Amino acid sequence: MKTPLSSSSSPSSSLLRKARLSPYYLFTLFAFIVFVTILYSEDFSCLFSQLNYTSNLPITKTSRGAGKKKVKLPFSVGRGNERCDVFSGKWVWDEENRPLYEESECPYIQPQLTCQEHGRPDKDYRLWRWQPHGCSLPSFNATLMLETLRGKRMMFVGDSLNRGQYVSMVCLLHRLIPEGSKSMKTNGSLTIFTAKEYNATIEFYWAPFLLESNSDDAVVHRISDRIVRRGSINKHGRHWKGADIIVFNTYLWWMTGIKFKILQGSFDDEDKDIVELSTEDAYRMGMKSMLRWVKKNMDPKKTRVFFTSMSPSHQKSIDWGDDSNGNCYNQTTMIEDPTYWGSDSRKSIMQVIGEVFSKSKVPITFLNITQLSSYRKDAHTSIYKKQWGPLTPEQLANPVSYADCVHWCLPGVQDTWNELLFAKLFYP
Ligand SMILES: *[C@@H]1O[C@H](CO)[C@@H](O)[C@H](O)[C@H]1NC(C)=O
Ligand SMILES: *[C@@H]1O[C@H](CO)[C@@H](O)[C@H](O)[C@H]1NC(C)=O
Ligand SMILES: *[C@@H]1O[C@H](CO)[C@@H](O)[C@H](O)[C@H]1NC(C)=O
Ligand SMILES: *[C@@H]1O[C@H](CO)[C@@H](O)[C@H](O)[C@H]1NC(C)=O
Ligand SMILES: *[C@@H]1O[C@H](CO)[C@@H](O)[C@H](O)[C@H]1NC(C)=O
Ligand SMILES: *[C@@H]1O[C@H](CO)[C@@H](O)[C@H](O)[C@H]1NC(C)=O
Repeated sequence: MKTPLSSSSSPSSSLLRKARLSPYYLFTLFAFIVFVTILYSEDFSCLFSQLNYTSNLPITKTSRGAGKKKVKLPFSVGRGNERCDVFSGKWVWDEENRPLYEESECPYIQPQLTCQEHGRPDKDYRLWRWQPHGCSLPSFNATLMLETLRGKRMMFVGDSLNRGQYVSMVCLLHRLIPEGSKSMKTNGSLTIFTAKEYNATIEFYWAPFLLESNSDDAVVHRISDRIVRRGSINKHGRHWKGADIIVFNTYLWWMTGIKFKILQGSFDDEDKDIVELSTEDAYRMGMKSMLRWVKKNMDPKKTRVFFTSMSPSHQKSIDWGDDSNGNCYNQTTMIEDPTYWGSDSRKSIMQVIGEVFSKSKVPITFLNITQLSSYRKDAHTSIYKKQWGPLTPEQLANPVSYADCVHWCLPGVQDTWNELLFAKLFYP
């Protein structure tokens, strides 16, 4: 990680030279260093904060610009242990406390994720809990979450993986809301779960690239020649304004395996001005657009913004050292190798995320779920889901050929993403 002080060496050294001239400059230099240190330690604690959970009073935080004024991070009720990286840990068997809800008691799970209903024979994938190495996660308190959302709007923005996390969140909360005072409605790209008595909404907005693209139709979006329009985030972003908590993701749709097409003008232009970028550069452009949107539209004193890292797929068993040409199909155990990472493109995209966030002062909390999910080759929906269309006899004869190794069964891994979100929201 680039340190702020090394990148600002020239202003410091010019201050140093002047410092010989006057004690005033010495003071200015000192104040400058203190200011920068506070500024950046705050950024890093925002982005990569590592924690323990105590029921202490809310964390105090130095607000940017004001320099000395202390403010509480919105929604926090305690503080985490800064030395504990909650994303580094292991899965432990916890039959007593898992799953956090039953598939059959949450009517909001879309049929693409209801694995038991679609005949999945094993159930163990629902019974693992994430245990960070350095601390324990606070238990997910649905009452606290719902009370916090009273009169508020929480929004998940991104692709179908983020929709899974969204549905998991709704499933974690809906039991507290009586029948008849909750509903879920979809209109185009926007799905809204309403808790009437709480005057709260939890929403999902489909925007697989965050920016405008030719794959934005919420129903018909399977376009092989994907194009994203530069600088177009407001096309979708105008629908996110006013949200109190936003959770973004974007990844899978950028992974075309070829140069990525970026449109400079408008989709209506007859002569389209298109440039081709590497996947990493295209993704970096998307991330930067998101940061600019957040900076412009989200008030850090009242709102929180999260970004969920890449959801790993398990498409090739060779990745975990099994050369049987398989994939996640028929996998009932997780990957034991703690250093397992999977395909390389994830690594380069993670680097882009790390770079973009470390250079940015926009307070976004990073949910680094990639590594912990990459162990879970057992937790995908595989063939146990509603299929988009009828399967051919050839497919049926070879389940590996149509297993979905991208999405996750619910309840399952994505409940853990929300437990981590819960931890970072209330105990930052
Ligand atoms: C964090 O929590 C773990 C276990 O819950 C404990 O052993 C450790 O001492 C705690 N660390 C701090 C700094 O509080
Ligand atoms: C959950 O949160 C509510 C509201 O803050 C609180 O009253 C309750 O004690 C919490 N429950 C647990 C088990 O911590
Ligand atoms: C309901 O919440 C919205 C914000 O989402 C707020 O503008 C409105 O005033 C609230 N209404 C009531 C009756 O509390
Ligand atoms: C759906 O959204 C469109 C545009 O955002 C709006 O015009 C329309 O009234 C909405 N339909 C319903 C049923 O809410
Ligand atoms: C599933 O995996 C088990 C070993 O874990 C193997 O015995 C069995 O034949 C596999 N079933 C199918 C249908 O591939
Ligand atoms: C996310 O976690 C992984 C595994 O712990 C780590 O390699 C990676 O650097 C982290 N990414 C960022 C941007 O912090």
